[in-house]
Parts: sequence; C-alpha cells; structure tokens
Amino acid sequence: MKVLGIETSCDETAVAVVENGKAILVNLIASQIDIHKQYGGVFPEVASRHHVNRLLPLVEKAIEITNEIDLIAVTNGPGLMGALLMGVTAANTLGFGWDKPVVGVNHIEAHIYAAMIGTTPLFPALGVVVSGGHTLLIKMQNITSYEILGTTVDDAAGEAFDKVATLLEYPYPGGPHIEKLAIEGDEKKYHLRSGQIKRHPFHFSFSGLKTQILYLVKGMNGTKNDLTIIDKEEKKHIAASFQRAIFKDIVKKSLKAALSFPCRAIYFGGGVTQNKAFRQSFTHHCPIPLFWPPQNLGLDNAVMIAGLGYHLRAQKGEVQAFPRISTKAHRSL
Ligand code: KG4
Ligand code: ZN
Repeated sequence: MKVLGIETSCDETAVAVVENGKAILVNLIASQIDIHKQYGGVFPEVASRHHVNRLLPLVEKAIEITNEIDLIAVTNGPGLMGALLMGVTAANTLGFGWDKPVVGVNHIEAHIYAAMIGTTPLFPALGVVVSGGHTLLIKMQNITSYEILGTTVDDAAGEAFDKVATLLEYPYPGGPHIEKLAIEGDEKKYHLRSGQIKRHPFHFSFSGLKTQILYLVKGMNGTKNDLTIIDKEEKKHIAASFQRAIFKDIVKKSLKAALSFPCRAIYFGGGVTQNKAFRQSFTHHCPIPLFWPPQNLGLDNAVMIAGLGYHLRAQKGEVQAFPRISTKAHRSL
C-alpha cells in the first residue's frame, strides 16, 4: 500500500510517499527557513501562505515518481492552525477528487514513529519529543495509546535554543548554531540551571535559562535591546553551558520517567535530536535501549506522516485540524 504523506504543521511544506509503513519512495521538503529567518522565528500567517504555493507542486512531483497512491495521510495536529488547515484542506480535496481515503496523523506520534520505522517497536515505552514546539515525556502502551507524563510549562527545548541563539546573534533556527558554538566552549564555565516545577517532577521550564543568559550577554538586569558585552569566545562558553544545563535536565527527567514503569525502550523525536551532544548525553547514562530517528527524519518531514498513516488506515471520514495536543490518547491501531 502506497501512502501519500502531507505535513504542513509549522514552517516546512513536506510531501512523501511511503510503502507499507516503511519503504521510503519519495521524500520532498520545501523549507521556509530563509523566509522566517528575518522574523527570528516562525511567522504563522506567512507560513500558511507559503504552504499554499508550495504544496501542490510537491504533490505533483511525488505522483509523477510513484504514479498511483492508495491512501492520503495528513498532519492534523498539533501545530499552527492556519498552517495545518492548508495541508488538511488539500488532503481532503485530493481524497475527494481521486476517490482515495484520507487519514489524520498526529504530528507528535509521527515524530516518535520516525524512530520506529523499519523496526518492531517495544512496548511499554517512553517517548521523548524535543522539538521547536514541544518538550514531552510520553508513556506509551502503543504508538497511539499513551499518557503525557511531562511537558514544558513555558518554552519548548528547541524554542529555548532558538531564543538563546537570537541573544547570541545567530539566526533562526538556532539549534545547529548553538551546537557548533558549544563544541569549542567550556560547558562548566557558567552554572546555568533549568527550572524545576513543584509537585511535577517530569515537567520542564526553560524560560529562566533564557533570562540567565540574557544577563550574561547584556549585563546584569540588561534588556534585549541593550548592547552585547561579550565576545565570540564567551559565546562559545555560554552555548556549551546552556546545552549542558538543558540536556542534563532532559536526561534526568527522562530516565526518572522511564524508571517509573516497566519501560522496554525509549523512542526519540523532534528537531533537537539532531544534536550530537544530546544523543551522547543519553548514551552515557541510560540502561534502557534507545531508538533515534534516522538523521534525515529528526526534523519535520512527511515520511513520518505517511509511515504512521499506513497503520491508521482504518480511520473513516473527513479529517479535521486540531492545533493542540491532548494529554491522553487511546486509539487502537
Ligand atoms: O521537529 P522540528 O523540525 O519542528 C517542530 O516540530 O518544532 O524542530 C525544530 C527545532 C528548532 O527549534 C531547532 O532550533 C531545533 O529543532 N534544532 C536543534 C538542532 N537542529 C534543530 N536544536 C539543537 N541542536 C540541533 N542540532
Ligand atoms: Zn515537529
């Protein structure tokens, strides 16, 4: 069964065709990074408009390569409402026109599925999603039956990378710049700490880190518009110390969450998993098998949507968009 996947939840317009949930026949991504760079982050309205222009040419190209498809899978949440609607409307319309079924795929579940592609998944498992929009610890009975154990109360991990990069005068998306800077920095130079939430041991808070860094970069009680008082060398130490603080916190809470139930594996998803230091900090500490997305499937893509869509093919009816994730999900495959 060939599944056409469509992903437009944020700033990547992506289309893929995946056969039987694992064989990647087409993987196309039209990135909007250069457009959003000037705003220092994703400008939702602009993202929607670009999805409109880019989506159908990508679908045409995918169909040229694969001819037939049997099913359309589309991201229907969580994400930016306007951006989601572009993909969902296109999928429903194509499904109607081609007389093919359409299934809605949850973007978070799909990020985790990217780490499972081509394997026989082990359950119960912990899902760790660290992206620009989410930081989630998920206890999974299977890919679509799970409970969210922890989330962020303010910024997502990737968002924190992006904001710290802006403070250090690097463009969006900031993660890769911070990673590069950190390689040459002294991670112990600054004692930065992620936030802890009373009575919620698995929740995250990263906005305080951002303020600690603001004061290092602009001076005590400085504001965003003040002059930067540090040089490039200092930026390296700040990047390394920031990474250490954020990763230490995610590793500690993830392991604690995994040890709170008979967890057989940890599956990772989201753009921050591209970071090598992040992967290493888990490998050094974890007694449980770890599964990472293949390098090209950590960031937003439509392969993960088409792949998971194959397993959801029994769903019926028109797909609707849902911008927020719910804390519990129980759908059977
Ligand atoms: O999963 P993703 O493509 O989109 C969302 O669903 O949000 O993740 C994008 C996020 C951005 O915040 C970006 O800065 C971050 O992932 N990211 C990284 C790295 N590469 C991308 N963060 C840290 N280190 C990286 N190498
Ligand atoms: Zn994502």
